[in-house]
Amino acid sequence: MKAIERRTIRKYTSEKIDEKTLNYILNCGQRASNCGNMQLYSIIVTQSEEGKKRLAPLHFNQPMVEDCAVVLTVCVDVNRFNKWCEINSAQKSLNNFLFLNVATIDAAVCTQAMAQAAEEKGLGICYLGTVNYMVEPISEALNLPDGVIPVTCLTIGYPKETPPVTERLPLSSVVHYEEYKDYTDANIKAMYRDIEQNPSNQDFVKENSKENLAQVFSEVRYPKQMNEEFSEKYEAYLKEHFFSK
Ligand SMILES: Cc1cc2nc3c(=O)[nH]c(=O)nc-3n(C[C@H](O)[C@H](O)[C@H](O)COP(=O)(O)O)c2cc1C
Repeated sequence: MKAIERRTIRKYTSEKIDEKTLNYILNCGQRASNCGNMQLYSIIVTQSEEGKKRLAPLHFNQPMVEDCAVVLTVCVDVNRFNKWCEINSAQKSLNNFLFLNVATIDAAVCTQAMAQAAEEKGLGICYLGTVNYMVEPISEALNLPDGVIPVTCLTIGYPKETPPVTERLPLSSVVHYEEYKDYTDANIKAMYRDIEQNPSNQDFVKENSKENLAQVFSEVRYPKQMNEEFSEKYEAYLKEHFFSK
């Protein structure tokens, strides 16, 4: 799949991924750029049926988890680096917000490199944002110690579907040359017009009895109250298992 034509794949055949291909994908992830070459992440590979079954409900039973060949959960990991510091009488310096952010970027860059490597090998991938909603139970299921926080997740398998390429906003709406140019209401309306007029999005608005697509996104799919509840859980988990160490 060429990068410009890529699309998320949510249906997979039962074909397994051989060890050589999986190792290639993992190596491409590790080859990605990362801060100071400290490699502040770990990748948990879930291939067994029982492992995928255990993870499925923690991803709100999204069917890709059990149907895929491999689930890759990529975690911020300052545990390994801290242990290295400890045995070298070096100060632990990474259990703070800055390095949570830096290591999250490392993990995301690594994840996308693995996604592209998988697609290069004819596989399909789907990211699972549910990993951020369910940090505590996923950490328990994967036996993650303090300092290791799951941040991204990919399901990978051989595609059993070829969905259409999804729409994007016009390129000019996400690219700013030389400096940020803030949007007028007219710009915003023009930029979202095609997405709003897409028939499946219009059905989405009707099915949810909303007035428009923005309301569907912000009040049905990603509502404030739900986001705040999951945020609180996330923050509490980080306080206990990342910042305080
Ligand atoms: C951080 C992140 C979280 C995502 N979470 C989910 C998810 O939980 N379930 C899902 O089906 N797709 C998920 N996706 C895939 C997006 O829905 C998809 O990339 C987007 O709709 C654009 O479609 P495309 O990738 O086919 O172009 C996620 C993607 C990203 C980058």
